[in-house]
Amino acid sequence: MRAWKVDELGEPAAVLHEADAAAPEPGPGDVGIDVAAAGLNFPDVLMCRGEYQVRPELPFTPGSEVAGTISAVGDGVEGFRIGDRVLAIPQFGHGSFADRTVASAATTYPIPDELDWAAAASMHITYQTGHLALHHRARLRPDETLLVHAGAGGVGSAAIQLGLAAGARVFATAGGPEKVEICRKLGADPVIDYRSEDFVEVVKAATDGRGVDVVYDPVGGDTFDRSRKCIAWEGRILVIGFTSGRIPDAPASHVLIKNYAVVGVHWGMYNLLDPERVRRTHDELVRLALAGKIAPLVSEEIRGAELPDALDRLASRRTWGKVVWRP
Ligand SMILES: NC(=O)c1ccc[n+]([C@@H]2O[C@H](COP(=O)([O-])OP(=O)(O)OC[C@H]3O[C@@H](n4cnc5c(N)ncnc54)[C@H](OP(=O)(O)O)[C@@H]3O)[C@@H](O)[C@H]2O)c1
Repeated sequence: MRAWKVDELGEPAAVLHEADAAAPEPGPGDVGIDVAAAGLNFPDVLMCRGEYQVRPELPFTPGSEVAGTISAVGDGVEGFRIGDRVLAIPQFGHGSFADRTVASAATTYPIPDELDWAAAASMHITYQTGHLALHHRARLRPDETLLVHAGAGGVGSAAIQLGLAAGARVFATAGGPEKVEICRKLGADPVIDYRSEDFVEVVKAATDGRGVDVVYDPVGGDTFDRSRKCIAWEGRILVIGFTSGRIPDAPASHVLIKNYAVVGVHWGMYNLLDPERVRRTHDELVRLALAGKIAPLVSEEIRGAELPDALDRLASRRTWGKVVWRP
């Protein structure tokens, strides 16, 4: 089979190359998956650079989510058969940017025929993270306001849709007029171009000075610092990621005086510590998708050798929604 490999760390376009590789064999409890589509995620970039919180051993194949068909079933696996349509989190180092990958059956989920491959490949990490963050961690209520940063991105667009599906009023920020328009089309209002407007002022004006109840922050850095200026009494700032490149701090005195919470979200760990919650969330996301309440924003379907350039564009703010790779 063919697989995209990283032999040394660096920017994706510099270090990713396609090579012949032996297909990974499923061990006990695993399934083999023929890759139909793989969603691109910011952590794939961080992994190529060696900046992700966990580092696979070199050489490795990146790709953190996959939609495809089961090609082999390891010993002890129940509930899956060859040919089943699934989405999954591939085994670390044997990622989804390949013809075939391997995953634990415990992190593999069935998908209905109504979901096409691109939608299925876009419906896992970003929506799981959004659902877990908004419902389980922030306890978002229908009468509340939610501010989503980088709203036109992968996790951002999912969070806008999930916030609206939960009945909240959703505000968003994005960099540049095209991305602002994307957030508007998703239903966020107001949407703030944080290159030219101060989102703190807009949020305060739109909430009679109160601020928003929940902030969903995949950006960090100055965006997190400024969010602390417009969080409401009893508000929750969800720490999702640091695409800005700077990990910010919140002084405990400020958290106390303004009476808000800084809430960490590490979705990946739920696969190990609370897999039942992930499975229930998957069922709920499929239900929402089939009911038309959420619809992954697939902006591009790329093929084969377009992968390194697409990851570079993702790293430098030149993508929106979800980019999906097909072998
Ligand atoms: N906590 C969790 O469990 C979890 C799970 C999944 C993902 N994440 C994190 O969520 C974040 C977003 O992931 P994603 O795959 O959905 O990416 P993405 O949002 O599609 O792309 C990143 C976006 O971040 C914004 N951004 C702001 N400053 C940036 C900078 N200096 N460089 C690059 N981008 C910048 C850009 O939007 P604008 O142009 O609009 O500013 C860019 O489009 C990542 O940090 C990822 O690690 C966390």
